[in-house]
This record gives sequence, structure tokens and C-alpha cells, in this order.
Amino acid sequence: MSSDGPWWRGAVGYQVYPRSFADSNGDGIGDLEGIRARLTYLSWLGVDAVWISPFYPSPGHDHGYDVSDYTAVSPRHGSLDDFDRLVKEAKRLDLRVLVDIVPNHTSSDHPWFREAMRGTDDPKRDYYLWRDPAPDGGPPNNWVSHFGGPAWTLDPASGQYYCHLFLPEQPDLNWSNEEVRGEFDAILRFWCDRGVDGFRIDVAHGIAKDPDFRDNPLVREITDPVDPRVVFHAYDHIHDLDQDANIEVFRRWRDVVRPYGAMLIGEIGAERPDRVARYVKDRDGLHTVFYLQPVWMRWEPARLLSKVRAMHDLAPTGVSWVINNHDDSRSVTRFGGDPEARERSLAVTAFLAGLGGVPFLFQGEELGLSDGKIDPSDLADPISTRNAGATGRDGSRTAMPWDDGHENGFTTAPHAWLPAAPRGMEETVAGQRDVPGSFLNRYRDLLAIRSAHPELWLRPLVWLDTPTPVVAAYVRGSMAIVTNLGDAPAAIPLPLQGWEVVFTTRPAPVGVGATEVRVPAAMTIILRWTGP
Ligand code: GLC
Ligand code: CA
Repeated sequence: MSSDGPWWRGAVGYQVYPRSFADSNGDGIGDLEGIRARLTYLSWLGVDAVWISPFYPSPGHDHGYDVSDYTAVSPRHGSLDDFDRLVKEAKRLDLRVLVDIVPNHTSSDHPWFREAMRGTDDPKRDYYLWRDPAPDGGPPNNWVSHFGGPAWTLDPASGQYYCHLFLPEQPDLNWSNEEVRGEFDAILRFWCDRGVDGFRIDVAHGIAKDPDFRDNPLVREITDPVDPRVVFHAYDHIHDLDQDANIEVFRRWRDVVRPYGAMLIGEIGAERPDRVARYVKDRDGLHTVFYLQPVWMRWEPARLLSKVRAMHDLAPTGVSWVINNHDDSRSVTRFGGDPEARERSLAVTAFLAGLGGVPFLFQGEELGLSDGKIDPSDLADPISTRNAGATGRDGSRTAMPWDDGHENGFTTAPHAWLPAAPRGMEETVAGQRDVPGSFLNRYRDLLAIRSAHPELWLRPLVWLDTPTPVVAAYVRGSMAIVTNLGDAPAAIPLPLQGWEVVFTTRPAPVGVGATEVRVPAAMTIILRWTGP
């Protein structure tokens, strides 16, 4: 990494979903001590920063994204002492630690909400969003929850509704309340003082709401009323999401974290690159954003490349590139579910790796995992358990496969909290680590190449013309990245003569001619110009 600029310039991140990473005490649930013990693996892999999804006290209705105390560790995952030990070990290994902060909503068990429920005069009442019923007694407007049903629940005692963009057990905070803002300033400082290097901000696009709570326009027919995602996407979320006031909050947060040099990464669930870019373009709010189109897409390579290119051009250093996280089907499954889909995933990751932002891997991505296989009776995600028949997010959340022992080395309990079919040895860390050319080693090589060639994130990016929309190529300084996401080999013209291949995502021969390079299907290559 470069010694100039913020610590994350040139860094690569790795998302840990703590429930499913490593269980140290045999209760079937992953924990901080389990993560600490595996940091040497992440350091070996070559990542620089670890983002840990929520481990705070929580009733667990949304598996930790329903937080009842922002400055403590759930006994389910350990203790604050465990957290301090984890940070210490991370520092020893030169790894940065990012925690997940959930400002859009608390748990309904949070003391603030319990107090707010006492009545309309309670001092904490205004921490949340309350409205009188519509004239017919129903919800105040047409907003819907991401997890099904209206975004409003009636509190019978006061006769008012409270707003929740997620579960009724996740009441939304009122970000126009100055005290709420002050509470979060203190929460950020608490974690910075404990040594964290930054924050992943949950639903960063959702925290501010239209002050008049107007209806969202219905823009599409609701084709499947059971699937909450279909219902949610039938509306244009102009009044409940992506409000300008969000950005104002992150300007304030930037001031809070500045003295610590901590990083702010926002989860921005907006679809259009220009909307997403608003959060980083003035360089006074979030440092980077997670842009989620590549996580939501099935295999549509031309669309993928054009979206990514548009996003890059609007925010060349402002994106934390991802194709996997804990909220969607794994890319290998989305991209076709077969061995070729693994090649596609790695090819896309290598293409993103030179785009100048901060790429993140999601646990198990480096093993080429597809979604875990779960018995329908074991599904745990509220999207499935509360909407019979809807596809939830559990497939990407099954346990990390460490070896081919009991429960793939994740736990000594009879089953992981989310039971799944065992993975074969070839899908595990132990089965790939010492095998040259394994997926794990190809990801590791990619990270090593990226780190050895700072031009890949420091020099200006110039796009090259390509023959088809499933091929993309760019040059940065003396490095070039060429990706062919098509199903057939492609010949891509190169400027200048004298390129040598330094990395290929799959072990297939690449033909570098005087004026062009021939790249096999589903493959990305990295080239270096060594002179004519
Ligand atoms: C984010 C999280 C997701 C969670 C939701 C509500 O999208 O990534 O897991 O369910 O926010 O907090
Ligand atoms: Ca445990």
C-alpha cells in the first residue's frame, strides 16, 4: 500500500459474517474469539481490512441488524474483552478492523424504544418516527417494509403508528432529531477509542425520510405479492430512501471520525450510479460507498460491465467494489452455479480490483463457494420465515468451510446455527490452501499482484476500445487489465507494443501479439508494459 493518503488507499477488504465464520466455544454460533483465531488466515490471504457484520446485543430477529445496545458485545458472540483482544491481534498482523453501524433503526428492545413506547410525552418519543393513522384508520402512507407488509405498525396504547423500513422489531430512528445525531456521534467515538479503523454504515441511503411522509409512486405492477422484494421494487422510493439529508449526516460523521483517521463506507442501495455517486462526489461525506448492482445481478455481463464503468467514471476512487455479501445469493450461484460460474466470479473480481476504489471479498468467496444447501425447515432469514415461499438470504450465510471434518471445522456443536449440507474437501480452506492454482490461491495471487503494483490504484485510468460489450479493458500507468466475460475467446487491440502477462484468472493460454491480445472466455488478465 502507499504511504501517502488515507490508510485505505490501495487496501482490500474482507467481510466477516460473525455468526457463520468460526465458532470457538461449541455453541454452533460464530464468535469474536473464533474470528480472532482466524485472522492469520486473512493475513495470509493478503487482505488489509476486515469488516465485521454486527455482533452487538440483539434479540436477533434480523440476525444482529436489530441492535439493542450499540456499545457492547452480544454474549452470543463474546465480550468487549474479546473485542479488544481481536483488535490487538489485528494490529499485530497489520490488519484494519471495521465495524458495522446500524443507524437507520434500533431493535424494538433498545431502551430508547422501550422508553418511547411509554407515551406521546416521553422524552425519547421523538427518537422514532410516529404518525397518526390515515383517515380510514390504516397506516399513514403507502410505504412498505423491505421484509414484507406495511412500513408501519400501530401502537394501540397511543393510537399512533411507528415507521419501520424493515421488521416491526426494527423501528426507524428520527434523524431530524438532534439528540439522535448526538447519540451516534458518541457511538462512533466509542468504537474509534477502542481502536477500530472505520465503519460500514448499514442502510446509509435510508436514514432520512421525507418530512411530509408523502406516498411513494407505484411504478410497476406487483407480480408476486408474497415476495417482499418484488413488492418493494414496485415503488419508486423517492420519499423513504436516498434523501439529500442523508448526506448532511455523513458530513457530520466525517468530522467526528477525522481525528481518528477512520473510514466511512456506506451501504447505498440506490440503483442509479449517479444517485450513488452523490454520497462521495464532494469528498466531504462518506469516504466510499458499496454500490450493489453487481451483487443483485444474475449473469448479464454486458449490463454488468456498463453499470460498473458508469459507476467508476462518476466516482473513480469512491467505490468499495463488491460482487458478494450476506444479503444476496453468492455470485457463483447467480452467475450460473457451475464451474464456469466460478471463473466468471473471479474474472469479475479481477476486473474490479484495478478500478481504484477499495474492493471487498465476502467470506468464502475466495473458495469459489456457491450458496449453501439448506433444508427448507431450517431457513432462518425473516424474508423466508415471514413470507412463505419467498427466497431469503440464508444461502450466502451458511458456515465457512474450514476443512472436511465435522461441520466443515466451523463448530464442534452437533450443527451450525444454520444447518447446511457439508461441503466437499475441495471447497474448504484446508483443501485449497496448499494446492497451487486452486481458487483460493488464485484470489491470493490476485491480491498480491495488486499490492505489488501500486499503479493499479494510483495512476489515472484510461478505458480502451473493445470489440464487444462483454469485453472491457483499461490501462493505468504501465499496467493494463483486460476482461472477457463472453462465452468465446476475444481479440482486444492494445495500444503500444511490448506487453507481458503478469496474471491470468484461469490457467488458459493467452496470446499476446504485437497489436492485440487474445483472451479466452470468462477470464481476466493483467498485463504490464515492459517496452517494445
Ligand atoms: C442491510 C443489511 C441487511 C439488514 C438490513 C436491515 O441491508 O445488510 O442484512 O437486514 O440492512 O438492517
Ligand atoms: Ca460460539
